[in-house]
Amino acid sequence: MATILVLHGPNLNLLGSREPVIYGHATLEDINQKLTALCIEAGHHLQVLQSNAEYELIERIHEAKNEGVNFIIFNPAAFTHTSIALRDALAAVDIPFIECHLSNVHKREEFRKTSYFSDLAAGVICGFGPQSYELALQAAISLSKDK
Ligand code: DQA
Repeated sequence: MATILVLHGPNLNLLGSREPVIYGHATLEDINQKLTALCIEAGHHLQVLQSNAEYELIERIHEAKNEGVNFIIFNPAAFTHTSIALRDALAAVDIPFIECHLSNVHKREEFRKTSYFSDLAAGVICGFGPQSYELALQAAISLSKDK
């Protein structure tokens, strides 16, 4: 049984009402419920945190190491394009992670094409709306089995 941690970055608590043309109508609660159900079905354990604060995400990543979390699915949201501190946290704990985005960041503004995470990630999934998380979970489960 693997423990998978899903981290959602800033403004993702507003999913459902936030720019629905870009991010869709599903709420964060909808996404988390779906992921939890899929994880239980596969016999794994899911933990979730959304935070608008960089330091909270950093501290959660540090704790994940002590707790023996096997895999992280991370949507760093706007921190994708800015946060060396979160990148360093992931490098420090050395837990494999998947970078995940609802929107196709490569189809949007120029600044969204830069990520501080992609080169450290096991893989990157973007552009499939809430399904990006489900695809990331599938990959995390299958990569956890390989261990
Ligand atoms: C996002 C894309 C980011 O560029 C943006 O800042 C977000 C959400 C996505 O899931 O598509 O907040 O990570």
